[in-house]
Amino acid sequence: MPAENQGAATDIQSILQEKRVFPPPRDFAASAHIKSLDEYRAMYDRSLEDPEAFWAEAARELHWYKPFTRVLEWKLPDARWFDGGLLNACHNCVDRQIEAGHGAEVAIIWEGEPIGAGGRPEIRRLTYDDLEYETAKLANVLDGLGVNRGEVVTIYMGMVPELVIAVLACARIGAPHSVIFGGFSATAIADRVTDAKSKVIITCDGAWRRGKIVSLKDNVDEAIHLASGVVSHTIVLKRCGNKIRMVEGRDHDWHEVMSQAEPDRDPTPMNAEDLLFILYTSGTTGKPKGIMHTTGGYSVYTYLTAKYIFDLHHGQNQVYWCTADVGWVTGHSYIIYGILPNRVPTFMYEGAPNHPEPDRFWDIIERHKVTQFYTAPTAIRAFMKWGEEHPGKHDLSSLRLLGTVGEPINPEAWMWYHRVIGGERCPIVDTWWQTETGGILITPLPGAIPTKPGSCTLPFFGIDAAVVDEQGVEKPANTGGLLAIRKPWPGMLRGVYGDRNRFIDAYFKRIKGMYFPADGARRDEDGYYWIMGRVDDVINVAGHRLGTMEVESALVSHTSVAEAAVVGMPHEIKGQGLAAFVTLKTGQTATEDLRTELINHVAREIGHIAKPDQLRFTDALPKTRSGKIMRRLLREIAEGHAPRGDTTTLEDFSVLAKLRENEES
Ligand code: PRX
Repeated sequence: MPAENQGAATDIQSILQEKRVFPPPRDFAASAHIKSLDEYRAMYDRSLEDPEAFWAEAARELHWYKPFTRVLEWKLPDARWFDGGLLNACHNCVDRQIEAGHGAEVAIIWEGEPIGAGGRPEIRRLTYDDLEYETAKLANVLDGLGVNRGEVVTIYMGMVPELVIAVLACARIGAPHSVIFGGFSATAIADRVTDAKSKVIITCDGAWRRGKIVSLKDNVDEAIHLASGVVSHTIVLKRCGNKIRMVEGRDHDWHEVMSQAEPDRDPTPMNAEDLLFILYTSGTTGKPKGIMHTTGGYSVYTYLTAKYIFDLHHGQNQVYWCTADVGWVTGHSYIIYGILPNRVPTFMYEGAPNHPEPDRFWDIIERHKVTQFYTAPTAIRAFMKWGEEHPGKHDLSSLRLLGTVGEPINPEAWMWYHRVIGGERCPIVDTWWQTETGGILITPLPGAIPTKPGSCTLPFFGIDAAVVDEQGVEKPANTGGLLAIRKPWPGMLRGVYGDRNRFIDAYFKRIKGMYFPADGARRDEDGYYWIMGRVDDVINVAGHRLGTMEVESALVSHTSVAEAAVVGMPHEIKGQGLAAFVTLKTGQTATEDLRTELINHVAREIGHIAKPDQLRFTDALPKTRSGKIMRRLLREIAEGHAPRGDTTTLEDFSVLAKLRENEES
């Protein structure tokens, strides 16, 4: 945490004056799992008074090969949940439903991006029987490639059902998966496979995105080259038919190996605390951290949160759709692990929301009669911009619940979502959580908690949240402070892969005795939480988390760059965008071509999501006397005025910096 940010959050004054309150629709509440605020409060109180009893009861809703003997062992920062118990996450998603007689029911509904000749997209429906058959075969393929229990398998695929099959096959044999979002570059893949020592990558030839093919396999080839000696095998699903290179003995065709694989493979009973997956996410340094989640706690937490928050009921023709990519934690938790054990079909869409037209999502909702729809504020803002006529063309009456995640939602977008998509009849769950938390921590329960646009409302069962100062003392109502979680919960991260110190430093150091998510927040007079955003050098760009340091490292790795500073700036659609300030090495000239090259260089190093929205050349970065970059000043500059028309002119912020020096040092 840079010193300049210390204390900043505790001084935050909220400027939001949102007074509207929306009670849960009466007919929704009548059939919901949790039907009233009183019921929520009673259950919440019980969950905090006796968390072990609460979570033991929840855990027993899943299948265990051997029951746990201890619910929780907590030695800060280490939590162990459900010790002594044996379970398998794939079994709980798939086999268990078959054993209960539901094998022929639909588990996944999938729609491809391309629209076929008849004007129809490709649609696939996979039952629990299909999932068992496919995951068992792939598990055997992985066995055959020498993947042992505990060895990390990397998955880098587009949004196809085989991605879920790959994830579940890893879980089936106890090989932790590391899914890398398809938008990341070869360098990013290489860093991650090296960190995880991952010998096998499961990938696709390409992925469809807005009518174009993203050549995933080419990126994998380059990554294998960069991570020299780490990867020995790949399995390649041919989805797009683009031309790829297959290396004999190293690269295996998915369909070929699957057609030869045995279809029987029982899930391996795993210890509750065995690693289920790693998911890399950005932090305040240049190196992403591998967030670790284990089998028992994560399975229980995602299952229970999904059930209550999305109000999942099997046997009622529900179709649940989360628009996230499986490459992010939202996809892990609320496309796969939280949804399948609830036995409600999880819908997956392969491509872009505006392909071929900006009404694609609404077309999908109408075609598949989607009942729960979970998306991000950035998407909602894009829909607003594209216009009401697009949802207006479709029958959205199947919808009964809407959700958002990823960043604070501005009340205007909330109201639009409520009115235009929800027809003023669907509750909205604004869910606050993080990669590290595994599942949703603060959220409305749709039948119980009245909502206020822009607030993620109240903590979920078992979550002891608070807004505190640097000393961990609770702040009075309506005063900005640091968000903290005071007690462990089953879905919490168990570590940062290979970096014990970073785990402690990032989450348990700043506020003594509590988990610190690095968000600022305030609680209003009703106890409702209003998230104010990150208080570290991490920003949420279009709901994706990016460390400004990562982008800075990428920029300075270019031969012509001497120094770089990257800050967040407001962005109409993305919520926040990236502004980069660059000083060049002596002898280098600022040109328009160089600017484009630097932006593309960031895309090559990290991925297109990290491309700066503004890149300005300056002959010096404004610094304090002690040499610290004055980021707050840069943020103001990025917000305050657009770069000069001629962006190659060297701007000089040193005068401004001098004026500010006393204030910031
Ligand atoms: O700043 C918070 C913001 O997203 C961060 C977590 O990012 P990531 O680990 O990528 O996970 C995103 C999906 C769970 C948080 O620290 N954030 C997430 N949801 C919300 C939010 N901010 C406000 N309101 C939310 N509902």
